[in-house]
Amino acid sequence: MVVVIDFGGQYNQLIARRVRDLGVYSELLPYNTSVDKIKELQPKGIIFSGGPNSVYEEGAPHVDPAIFELGVPILGICYGMQLMTHLLSGKVERAGVREYGKAEVRLHQPHSLYEKWNENEVVWMSHSDKVVELPSGFQIDAVSDACPIAAISDQARKFYGVQFHPEVRHTQKGNEFIANFLFNVCGCSGNWSMTSFIEDEIKRIRETVGNKQVLCALSGGVDSSVVAALIHRAIGDQLTCMFVDHGLLRKGEAESVMETFVGKFSMKVIKIDARERFLNKLRGVTDPEQKRKIIGNEFIYVFDEEAAKLTDMDFLAQGTLYTDIVESGTATAHTIKSHHNVGGLPKDMRFTLIEPLKTLFKDEVRKLGKELGLPDEIVWRQPFPGPGLGIRVLGEVTEEKLTIVRESDAILRDEIAKAGLDKEIWQYFTALPEMKSVGVMGDVRTYSYTVGIRAVTSIDGMTADWARIPWEVLEKISTRIVNEVENVNRVVYDITSKPPATIEWE
Ligand code: XMP
Repeated sequence: MVVVIDFGGQYNQLIARRVRDLGVYSELLPYNTSVDKIKELQPKGIIFSGGPNSVYEEGAPHVDPAIFELGVPILGICYGMQLMTHLLSGKVERAGVREYGKAEVRLHQPHSLYEKWNENEVVWMSHSDKVVELPSGFQIDAVSDACPIAAISDQARKFYGVQFHPEVRHTQKGNEFIANFLFNVCGCSGNWSMTSFIEDEIKRIRETVGNKQVLCALSGGVDSSVVAALIHRAIGDQLTCMFVDHGLLRKGEAESVMETFVGKFSMKVIKIDARERFLNKLRGVTDPEQKRKIIGNEFIYVFDEEAAKLTDMDFLAQGTLYTDIVESGTATAHTIKSHHNVGGLPKDMRFTLIEPLKTLFKDEVRKLGKELGLPDEIVWRQPFPGPGLGIRVLGEVTEEKLTIVRESDAILRDEIAKAGLDKEIWQYFTALPEMKSVGVMGDVRTYSYTVGIRAVTSIDGMTADWARIPWEVLEKISTRIVNEVENVNRVVYDITSKPPATIEWE
């Protein structure tokens, strides 16, 4: 494995990711991880990531210099190179000219780290400090116009530094560069895959759990489903899943969860029917934020109450992903958002947490799910908010309105799948505004609800564009909704991007 030490740079998650894509297991660890802990992991290589600070500033994140005594190859990227320089008694200063974006580097001294590189290569730079004096034993490997020390190395000790970002796609031979570090310098074998991840995790879960019992909150989403399948493969019946049906799920969702996990995987799943309880709590409430809070809290109460009945549970499994950890703030990354999630369980529970996905990204979790034999409808499930349909019925949530959203959404999903657009459009659903309008059906005046269709393309949900669904597909969807869903006489299509709108309507 290769350890990536996180100094807070915006591309850090990508470094571990690129390493794994090359078949070498990699984990991102906070900069303050002790050298003993790193040693225990027996890494074949260490990468210092980039970061927003200046190494010479007070309070800038540093590592214990004992890391240089481990005899393990180290690659410093950007801030990582500057930190290596600083700690090994070289000198870093603010650069007169800042360098952002594409730049060309010229290689001075090609060696095995630059195999397949030409003398001139396009790289991505993003820095305002630069190395001005090399630590002893180092040489200059590359220069750029703005940066006379763009890459350095001490090949005897296998310490390397680059001012550019090889993990970013704009660095044209970045992947080759990372591969060279892994294979030529660290001697990694590159045979890690999701299959080895499964084997390693199964071993780790068995060791951690022993003969004790694990409880897992199953929501039907990709993350909790993959966690349940993985843990079940490791410990079988020592796993109990709890599935809370809050009545805010999409059509057929509760049934499909039970069918997959109980039917196909023969797992122990306790289904809690809390539909009425949630609906009662939401009665008369119209404010979106209040609705979100009620749903989130109620989930915790229900889960807590039901879990308390299971007296012999020691562990609680959660489908936390790497991105969840980053979004809720790590030692280095800033908090981005605090969406509440139905998976968000109380902190003061009596369980020990196990989170076997916490080093993975969403698409890696999908690969893992596929490998574990989960059906496509779960593996490729589009994002679904924790508060569910509760925030797609605008204003007060009632059973009647939930039915309209559920039925119209099912038609939309059906037609999008039939048109072969289901993997292309990132998220698509219907929402029900608090609005009625006049229509005419079979010569009779109607006064019924309007259904809104929302469909967006996006990479990560942070920004989004409305999907250009072909007119004919929209026409079919609209006709079917008005004909098949009671109390609806109008369908509108949302053509706003995010920003300024958000993806959900509440
Ligand atoms: P917005 O509406 O903020 O949504 O543009 C961005 C993405 O996040 C999902 N979303 C949520 N997911 N809990 C979640 O787990 C929530 O409370 C929540 N609110 C929105 C939304 O579906 C979209 O994918």
